[in-house]
Amino acid sequence: MWSHSEMKEYLKKKLKKSRYEHSLGVCETAVKLAKMYGEQEEKSYTAGLIHDCAKNMTDEEIIKTIEDAGVKIDSLSLKMPQLLHGLAGSIIAGNIMQVKDKDILNSITYHTTGRENMSLLEKIIYLADYIEPSRDFKGVEELRELSFKDLDKALLCAYNNSIKFVIEKHEILHLDTIKARNYLIILSSDTFSSN
Ligand SMILES: [Fe+2]
Ligand SMILES: [Fe+2]
Repeated sequence: MWSHSEMKEYLKKKLKKSRYEHSLGVCETAVKLAKMYGEQEEKSYTAGLIHDCAKNMTDEEIIKTIEDAGVKIDSLSLKMPQLLHGLAGSIIAGNIMQVKDKDILNSITYHTTGRENMSLLEKIIYLADYIEPSRDFKGVEELRELSFKDLDKALLCAYNNSIKFVIEKHEILHLDTIKARNYLIILSSDTFSSN
């Protein structure tokens, strides 16, 4: 696997300055969450650093990266190629940066949509992406606090925000995000009813 400094050199070349700074912010926040919830800090740092490595590619480049790797793109995702920067980023991480850890690769793939039953690292990267220091939206401060109190509650709150945002923009909702939200609600109601 590439060293973190090699990864940073790659990102500096491929990303806009603000996106590079966002990536460092995600790293920093991911490590804090890792300390809080007992995830490996090194893995969290790596995943946070490179999660957006494909973010500034064009739609065509993103689609080509995925197709060249032999991965089939579903028709819904083809309509919103920007959501595929997670999958394309994971392919770049695996094939170019030689990242072998499946959990790191999955956390890059699913940071855009979320999914059902995410691993601890996947949750950390999804939330770190949402709340890193340069993020600024209504309610971000509450979500930051909640992220360090209850990871699943914070995740549900992030999904709710994302879904509302997509609806307000009249855009297509990715099914993984809806399934991920339902999964967390069912999980929390199961915990509730078993008490
Ligand atoms: Fe992203
Ligand atoms: Fe990001």
